[in-house]
Amino acid sequence: MEAESRRTCRQGQFTAERTWLYLCGIVGFTGNREAQEIILDCLRRLEYRGYDSAGIAIISKGRLTLKKSIGEIAVLESQLETMSGTTGIAHTRWATHGRPTTENAHPFIDCKGEYALVHNGILTNYLPLKEQLIKRGHKFTSETDSEVLVHMIEESTAPDLKSKVLSVLKQVEGSYAIAVVRKGHDEIVAARNESPLVIGIGHDENFVASDITALLKHTNEVVYLLDKEAVRITPGGVETFDLNGVAFTRAPKKISWNIEDAERSGYPHFMLKEIFEQPRAIHESLLGRLDGQEEDNFFMGQFNSIKIIGCGTSYNAGLVGKYIIEELSKIPTTTQISSEYRYSPVTESKPLVVCITQSGETADTLAAAREAKKRGCKTIAITNVLGSAITREADFVMYTRAGPEIGVAATKTFVTQLIALYLLGLKLGTIKNAISSERYREIVSEMRALPRIVQSVLNDAGTMESLAKKYKCAQSMFFIGRHLNYPTSLEGALKTKEISYIHGEGYPAGELKHGPLALLSKDTPVVAICAADHTYEKMLGNVREVTARDSPVIAIGMEGDQDLGKYAEDVFLVPKVDSLFSPVPIIVALQLFAYYLAIERGCPIDKPRNIAKTVTVE
Ligand code: G6P
Repeated sequence: MEAESRRTCRQGQFTAERTWLYLCGIVGFTGNREAQEIILDCLRRLEYRGYDSAGIAIISKGRLTLKKSIGEIAVLESQLETMSGTTGIAHTRWATHGRPTTENAHPFIDCKGEYALVHNGILTNYLPLKEQLIKRGHKFTSETDSEVLVHMIEESTAPDLKSKVLSVLKQVEGSYAIAVVRKGHDEIVAARNESPLVIGIGHDENFVASDITALLKHTNEVVYLLDKEAVRITPGGVETFDLNGVAFTRAPKKISWNIEDAERSGYPHFMLKEIFEQPRAIHESLLGRLDGQEEDNFFMGQFNSIKIIGCGTSYNAGLVGKYIIEELSKIPTTTQISSEYRYSPVTESKPLVVCITQSGETADTLAAAREAKKRGCKTIAITNVLGSAITREADFVMYTRAGPEIGVAATKTFVTQLIALYLLGLKLGTIKNAISSERYREIVSEMRALPRIVQSVLNDAGTMESLAKKYKCAQSMFFIGRHLNYPTSLEGALKTKEISYIHGEGYPAGELKHGPLALLSKDTPVVAICAADHTYEKMLGNVREVTARDSPVIAIGMEGDQDLGKYAEDVFLVPKVDSLFSPVPIIVALQLFAYYLAIERGCPIDKPRNIAKTVTVE
């Protein structure tokens, strides 16, 4: 079926082309069991991040064995002989410095083969360090920035691995999460700065990993490392310390996500599973928050305006959030892409800055949050990841409770970000006395109905599947909407382009006549969001404008609509909701459309080419 679709669509270019990508995965284990299988199992759970090569190093009775390969972990496994030993580290790499080759894959070892190291991040001062090391006789085997670290550890005269690593980290600049092992020693020393790293606590065994998902099968007890902190793990112990070696203790957190949460539970793709989890995710995100049992406890201080920042899907949630907050609280709200925030002149007087990031680790959003603080603003983070970097940057945190999202294309985290923004709008509206008690009650009741509304859209997934079969050969599509559904159209277009590789462009419907009409033809389908609200008549006008250019229109309307079918080629109806909430069922419909388009076109849905789930470089 997939091959067939490809042939009819003449799409031959669906292979992953990962060259300029950012995120690597780290795993380390030390215990009393054979390490190889455990480490590979943890590493496989990081596959969703995307990678181009992988490698593993195991310590066993005075030996350090190493294996690396390009391609998938399965390729590495097929080349592996059993490496006996109870301590080891492994890595999945996305190329940044140096091409995706076996030589550039991690772990790296020093000249004498005594130490092995994996690194996630970018060292900004590695070139002069490398030059000096080469002058002193070190032999480099890769083009990477990371390799300098292991040669520096080799050179260090400090008495033990911990002190050697600390002395090296004092000399490097940039971002890192590292894990290091040493021949003949059942210990791992790991450290982080601006790259995620967690410690997993087991019984007579301990782990480090760049992501909780890697560890969940083995433990749900974790300790988060913060920037410029390090750890030494042995089978029986965990010592945490700062980069000066000063010890500290931090209580482990119990993660309630279980392994099934992090796996596909029988769905063909994480993305579909996550789309179908949305009723539950919304329910969880509302739990206790509408009846005052659980308050997001923050005092936001004095401000007269709000600025929302984010990247990608989170930015699109922010665009919807602007309308939500302005309607509910009447506080003027603007939005800005995180990477652009620093360039904007400071015109507003200290707005409240809302930073939206599902991962909590996006470098551009972290940098913007820091800039906001520098400008004297209070910041609120909306994030899905407990203990993530943004939670330490922001003054206040609102957690979405979507559970782990593995598919690169954000779905349930987007919808729960909207839920957080509705809750924030309600809170601000109440503080500012901008909302009548009657409207408040209406909103609360609409929100309580959202899980059921979304479930009803999901029950109609088959219709979206048929539409996707019909439109799978499109090269380009427009998505149009007005008011709150203008950002919904942007998000629908983003989902379509990132996973189906069809060029999707979201547009405010009123702007079609100022350019895009020139591109319309019978081969350019237009998805028109026609919610049953004050935008409806104008949207109908836009639909006719489009059909006059022979473009087929797929209209997304609301139940009870009698008119859309007269103008649009295809109609998909979602349950009727208060206009403030229309983006929720509508985006779920568009997520399904994008998903099934990608299925029809045989795309690698959970790991689209060239994009990463978490982007930790600016
Ligand atoms: C990447 C992901 C997107 C995500 C964006 C922002 O580009 O592929 O799905 O929307 O980063 O991520 P954040 O974690 O900050 O929401």
